[in-house]
Amino acid sequence: MRFSSISLLPILAVSASPKLLTIPKVLQDDTNQAPLVPDPLRPAMPPSDDSKIASQSGVLISDVMGRDRSINIFAGFARDVASISNRFDNSKNNSTVLAPLNSAVEKLPRKPWEDPKEYDAMGANAYEGEDGQDRAHRNLRRFVEAHIVPVSPWPEKEKVKSLLDSDRVIWWEKKDGLQPDDIEIQSIASRVGNGEVWILKEVRNYS
Ligand SMILES: *[C@@H]1O[C@H](CO)[C@@H](O)[C@H](O)[C@H]1NC(C)=O
Ligand SMILES: *[C@@H]1O[C@H](CO)[C@@H](O)[C@H](O)[C@H]1NC(C)=O
Repeated sequence: MRFSSISLLPILAVSASPKLLTIPKVLQDDTNQAPLVPDPLRPAMPPSDDSKIASQSGVLISDVMGRDRSINIFAGFARDVASISNRFDNSKNNSTVLAPLNSAVEKLPRKPWEDPKEYDAMGANAYEGEDGQDRAHRNLRRFVEAHIVPVSPWPEKEKVKSLLDSDRVIWWEKKDGLQPDDIEIQSIASRVGNGEVWILKEVRNYS
């Protein structure tokens, strides 16, 4: 299945997250789109042993996550979560990474590892000490998991759950972006052997 259609169509989106500012609707002319970045570095390999081809020649998400500076905050978070960095480094587990722009992470009212309920319960020291660090790491993992779909290629309108267990079902539409969050998908940054890295204009609103 060809997946490039996502960038060839107009993307209309607004931020639906109540905590975030609404972005004006952007209507792109679909005759006027820049071509996708070509498939990076995928040398043709002799069709010998499938598993060897994957591990020797396949470029993986782990190889490309850090390439695009506009999402390097999220790439850093993902690197810090062992289960996720292992996944990105595994040719057998496909993912669609929904990486929010640095600017979207930066404008959050709090850090992605901070939970207002924990501040209410534990006060300003909620993330200090060993327990606090554990809490912060757990929250960061949830943030990262909510931005990874364990499916790639991910067809339009196919309802899936992110890696975050408690999350609601999500899908995407050419016209309206990521749903039901209503987030504009800016572009596909990379397309590699175990999935794709998409750039989102907003952070997902998950629970
Ligand atoms: C990763 O892929 C392997 C092989 O296809 C599969 O057995 C395993 O369940 C997958 N792991 C996850 C976390 O999806
Ligand atoms: C994983 O992604 C690759 C690259 O897009 C694709 O060729 C392959 O069919 C995908 N595997 C699954 C199980 O979806």
